[in-house]
Amino acid sequence: MNSFIVKGDFCFSKSKSEIITKENAYLLVENGMCKGFFDTLEKEIENYTLFDYTGHLIFPGMIDLHTHAPQYAFSGTGMDLQLLEWLDKYAFPEEAKYSDLSYAKKAYSIFCDAIKHSVTTRACVFATIHSDTTHLLMDMLDKTGLYCYVGKVNMDRNSPSLLCEKSAEISAEETENFIENTSHKYKNIKPIITPRFIPTCSDELSFKLGEIAKKHSAPIQSHLCENKDEIEWVKELCKEAKNYADAYDRFSLLTDRTIMAHCVHLSSDEIKLLKERNTFVAHCPTSNSNLKSGIAKIREYIEHGLNIGLGSDVAGGETLSLFSVIKEAIKMSKMYSYYVDNSKSPLTFSEAFYLATKGGGKFFSNVGSFEEGYEFDAVVLNFTPYAYDLSVKERMERAVYTNEDLKGICAKFVNGNKIV
Ligand code: GUN
Ligand code: FE
Repeated sequence: MNSFIVKGDFCFSKSKSEIITKENAYLLVENGMCKGFFDTLEKEIENYTLFDYTGHLIFPGMIDLHTHAPQYAFSGTGMDLQLLEWLDKYAFPEEAKYSDLSYAKKAYSIFCDAIKHSVTTRACVFATIHSDTTHLLMDMLDKTGLYCYVGKVNMDRNSPSLLCEKSAEISAEETENFIENTSHKYKNIKPIITPRFIPTCSDELSFKLGEIAKKHSAPIQSHLCENKDEIEWVKELCKEAKNYADAYDRFSLLTDRTIMAHCVHLSSDEIKLLKERNTFVAHCPTSNSNLKSGIAKIREYIEHGLNIGLGSDVAGGETLSLFSVIKEAIKMSKMYSYYVDNSKSPLTFSEAFYLATKGGGKFFSNVGSFEEGYEFDAVVLNFTPYAYDLSVKERMERAVYTNEDLKGICAKFVNGNKIV
């Protein structure tokens, strides 16, 4: 089961600085795990089923560490405001619609189809405060074959009435039920505790969510230091906290199973705290430019050894395509280097590709590479003709920059299962 050979032109990260390519090679996959490359179809592997993608580019499925399923409906629109006004005018009114099962069914089916056919194989997804339609989203994502963490969102203050849960107790109780009912329901879809961010979660609710996470060893996702007005608001709301990151840490919400989206404006104390907690940063550069949030200090975070992956943050980010997110990460880091601090070198292609695959993949354990012992998550692109011979690495870079995924994915695998 799940044992086969894949033939084609492979491209994957070994480290941030090293991309490995294998041209016209055979990869042995056993029980869904990568077992090593062969140059020829030798005796040892000749009896396995062969997926022959000769001439096609094959790379690890990309990891979207942060996205919002209900916001897909308005992605690519409403880019005129900064975060707090944008939430009020666009995100919250859309999310309120997900109390309606039939609307959620229609909108989530469009989202699921889009993410299934993107270059992403694994994602960490925010739903809304509504438990029933979050269950529906999980059922639908399960059918795609993708591997996803999905969160029922928590909000019990500073939220419009349609999106404000009645009390911290009710919100926490629903969350605990959600965790208990879905932890073992699916093979590839798992629950994640999802306090939206400090402004919409009371201290009582944050405390309870920290307790639930500990009790169930559950992962956590939220937003941190995205926008300057947001950071000022958190200072007002949490006078006792040393900083925004500490406001989460006081409730045990910063763990090595936590993803904090954005982290655009971390102070040096906050960088230290995230490093101590081994918390993951979801870098969301498309969103950060659209919502004029700023440019995250990614070079500095890399130098401090933080766990970093990339996130589309749809609909702050306009697209689910991690190719676009990689490109934006590189471009924004060039602007940072030029305008803000020229001692910080821009991200290289190799570094940004690593963040989109092996960097984010670490949250899912051994995911995001084709090295031995990694789960086989892969995307195979349709064959593209070139005027002259490009190296496999150049083809990868060109695909990312020209968004070749729009021209077609010919196959996709998640933990050894062919889903497209
Ligand atoms: N902070 C709190 N909620 C959100 C959201 O939906 N999108 C973004 N980009 N930031 C947030
Ligand atoms: Fe977000």
